[in-house]
Amino acid sequence: MVSANGLRQRAIEAAVAGLLAGGLVLGLPGPDRVDAQTSSDKAQKAQAAAWDADAPGPKQPIPFSHRLHAGEYQIDCLYCHTGTDRSQAAGVPSVESCMGCHTHFGGDLEGVQILKQHWEEKRPVEWLQIHRVPEHVQFRHNRHVAAGVECNTCHGPVEKMDKLYLTEDTKWWVYGLPAQKLEMGWCIKCHRENEASQDCLVCHY
Ligand code: HEC
Ligand code: HEC
Ligand code: HEC
Ligand code: HEC
Ligand code: HEC
Repeated sequence: MVSANGLRQRAIEAAVAGLLAGGLVLGLPGPDRVDAQTSSDKAQKAQAAAWDADAPGPKQPIPFSHRLHAGEYQIDCLYCHTGTDRSQAAGVPSVESCMGCHTHFGGDLEGVQILKQHWEEKRPVEWLQIHRVPEHVQFRHNRHVAAGVECNTCHGPVEKMDKLYLTEDTKWWVYGLPAQKLEMGWCIKCHRENEASQDCLVCHY
């Protein structure tokens, strides 16, 4: 016997896979039809962890878990951060792209309810930006993505984090202590190792 929760979990997984593969929307046939608006235990735990006040990182307006979406459900980073391979900025997904799934899932979750309020009021979510370089610095995602530098190299193991934060660079132990990422020395060190440009005017103009 599969429990009701187990069955719901499977239906959700199948529906996510279907949506990502190109558009099957709910309506799973026959006895597998499950009310996916009732959320799973996993989703409730992830939501609580994403708003855990003791975990590092800022409290976002919606408790969104990368571990659940990118880890558990394996939604590709580029599905949401569509800008990374094409433009300078990575971009954070629009309410509309979240709603592509959330008209179907998790209607009873607090985070999804906040999302739906934004949708109804046509208001963007004001996510707090965690990684930001000063105005005088030029950073481009597309150049790095094209060169095959993984997201994790710069952002840490995002698919394992419920709540995101700026990770330390444990590979750069100049003074015997982990350095903060996004400092000039961090950029330069990797550029030196990879024979990328160290010309001042590449990063400052
Ligand atoms: C490809 C489908 C998909 C997309 C796109 C998607 N979600 Fe989800 N989301 C899910 C599924 C599936 C669950 C888990 C439902 C369950 O297990 O009951 C979930 C759970 C959640 C939860 C509760 C767990 C958690 O992560 O804290 C929140 C909040 C949430 N989503 C917000 C969002 C927001 C905000 C966006 C857009 C940035 C988004 N979702 C985009 C499929 C999606
Ligand atoms: C379902 C949509 C979704 C997926 C999939 C997703 N993200 Fe995100 N990402 C978001 C949202 C929403 C935010 C803003 C809220 C937050 O910081 O948690 C965000 C924020 C971020 C940030 C912080 C940006 C800042 O403010 O500095 C990074 C870094 C990031 N994502 C990397 C990734 C990586 C790497 C992956 C793949 C492993 C990934 N994301 C997959 C929706 C998504
Ligand atoms: C070489 C290091 C590096 C790599 C690789 C990298 N990032 Fe970033 N990311 C940064 C830096 C630096 C910033 C701050 C940019 C700024 O302030 O303009 C940033 C900002 C972001 C942001 C928030 C700001 C924005 O541009 O909207 C998101 C989301 C993000 N990255 C996601 C990703 C994802 C997804 C990948 C993989 C496809 C990735 N990053 C790969 C260094 C990197
Ligand atoms: C983990 C390694 C790594 C880190 C960290 C890194 N970069 Fe890069 N960067 C590269 C590589 C590799 C290239 C070369 C891409 C190519 O050849 O097209 C590159 C290319 C660039 C370019 C384009 C250079 C050109 O010739 O036009 C800019 C601008 C740049 N990086 C800025 C930055 C900034 C600013 C930071 C820090 C905030 C940073 N990078 C951090 C690996 C890195
Ligand atoms: C690979 C990218 C990169 C290159 C190349 C680079 N910088 Fe920077 N620079 C940064 C980043 C990122 C910051 C902001 C973070 C910080 O202050 O450490 C910065 C900050 C600075 C600042 C401001 C420091 C402050 O305290 O506000 C100065 C001045 C500067 N750089 C000068 C230079 C000069 C001169 C060169 C050439 C010898 C150079 N940079 C080459 C990325 C770069």
